Amino acid sequence: MAHRQVDFLIIGSGIAGLSFALKAAHLGKVLILTKSNEDESNTKYAQGGVAAVVDKSDSFDKHIADTEVAGDGLCHPQVVENVVKEAPARIKELIDYGTNFDKVDDEHYDLAREGGHSKHRILHYKDITGYEIERALLEQVHAHPNIEMLTHHFAVDLITQHHKGVHVDKATKDITCFGIYALNTQTNTIETFLSKITLMASGGAGHVYSSTTNPTIATGDGIAMVYRAKGKVRNMEFIQFHPTSLYNPKDSPAFLISEAVRGFGGILRRLDGVSFMEEYDPRGSLASRDIVARAIDNEMKKSGHDFVYLDITHRKKADILAHFPNIYEKCLSIGLDMTKDFIPVTPAAHYACGGILVDELGKTSIQHLYACGECSSTGLHGANRLASNSLLEAVVYAHRIFEDAAASLHSLAFDDNIPDWDESKVASLNEEILVTHNLRETQKLMSDYVGIVRSDFRLDRAMRRLGFLHEETEDFYKNTKLSVKLCELRNVIQVAYLIVKSAMLRKESRGLHYTTDYPQKSNSLTDTIL
Ligand code: FAD
Ligand code: SIN
Repeated sequence: MAHRQVDFLIIGSGIAGLSFALKAAHLGKVLILTKSNEDESNTKYAQGGVAAVVDKSDSFDKHIADTEVAGDGLCHPQVVENVVKEAPARIKELIDYGTNFDKVDDEHYDLAREGGHSKHRILHYKDITGYEIERALLEQVHAHPNIEMLTHHFAVDLITQHHKGVHVDKATKDITCFGIYALNTQTNTIETFLSKITLMASGGAGHVYSSTTNPTIATGDGIAMVYRAKGKVRNMEFIQFHPTSLYNPKDSPAFLISEAVRGFGGILRRLDGVSFMEEYDPRGSLASRDIVARAIDNEMKKSGHDFVYLDITHRKKADILAHFPNIYEKCLSIGLDMTKDFIPVTPAAHYACGGILVDELGKTSIQHLYACGECSSTGLHGANRLASNSLLEAVVYAHRIFEDAAASLHSLAFDDNIPDWDESKVASLNEEILVTHNLRETQKLMSDYVGIVRSDFRLDRAMRRLGFLHEETEDFYKNTKLSVKLCELRNVIQVAYLIVKSAMLRKESRGLHYTTDYPQKSNSLTDTIL
């Protein structure tokens, strides 16, 4: 089959992939592969907004300090400084692309506040900021003659020397990415895409857990692909659980109740109505996410209940409706009027703070491969991401990668000597349901044993069970025709392994990683690199 060749190949059409595409299109031809509809992404569901210093009463130093406090010692200071200082320019670009952010008057933005922020600094569009950003970026992408997008194309694996028959292991210094094999889910064939530069922008991995705020696309594919290709990943133990997803067992994924509701005065209460966060942190309900999620987890374990309450009833109805129309409607749809009723909330897996290791220019440990957005680990988030720093990180790194790529593109060439994917496996899996069972089992064991509070015993249990699921799934993979579900299962198991392995290696409690066997922080600051 003929190979497609493009200057820039991008995996993913969230904020990271689209932002980079719009920049790279100034340099050459861009092709975006995305596994679902063009807008389906974590980006689309972002609620709270984008953090940036745009108000005179705020300062870079304060945003830097808040990011570092939330990150609990593991943020990389130079990275934090770069991202915070480059934020205003990147926000201006988003606005120039047509993104609307709410304003209080012609000159001033309506800045929200979220947990861990000492100032109001979150630019937002009502409570559907991500939807608005995705809309604006897609509109620009559609209009650009140098950008093509193929939806329903599932990236299966990076193409490296390994596919040319060269032995590659972790010690190999110049592992090189030549492109991607992708499953066209409309024709059910594997296509070969060759590129001078590839960007992994495949987003998060919430579906490693049973309960998550992430849409179903978030199966950690990019992280798994890079690790399989012998690239490096970092700090996978730091999975952020959002403290307040709506408690509604019928919802999967879980619906998020934005942290901006707490920033707007929302108070967390026990089922008897008593506020409890003051017992855990002087910042109360606005403490950083790791602390709030752990406190809620503790309250639920003590009381035996499946949720706590979030109370915003003391704010005026008109103000609640103006700021949170989407959340209001969702609550109403299940019979809750948030202007009068307390909202039942429970933590859910939300964000991967670790990911594919990249340097300050977004380069991975694999040649000609960059990573951007939630799938990457830049060093910004440390052990716990500060709210609304994720969309920001994606646009800052999209620009940094563009600048680096601009300097190197002219010296790169395609490698034509790449074999087609071996499609000799013709047997279809008779019982697709087995894949679904294994996925559920993986998600459940991760939620049961590798959640907010961990221990050596629980991690060992998880690892043993994962070993079995891994073996069984590799067997399916080797002997049957590929399907998206099977590839996703394989990736979820791979990412689950990376989380458990990294958690086992961290012999301390820090940020989002809390273990009863090592409840204290260690004196040495180390990243976990696998
Ligand atoms: P995504 O937006 O997830 O895009 C990933 C893309 O890759 C998708 O198009 C997906 O289909 C595609 N893809 C994945 N795997 C493959 C594959 N194998 N082949 C082809 N395509 C693939 N952050 C903030 O800063 N502020 C917020 O207010 C905020 N609110 C949030 C609310 C919710 C409910 C959620 C889930 C997250 C929120 N976050 C927020 C986090 C933030 O939205 C994400 O971290 C960010 O949008 C990630 O952008 P991305 O481009 O890296 O990935
Ligand atoms: C939220 O609106 O609470 C999500 C913000 C984030 O994840 O950064």
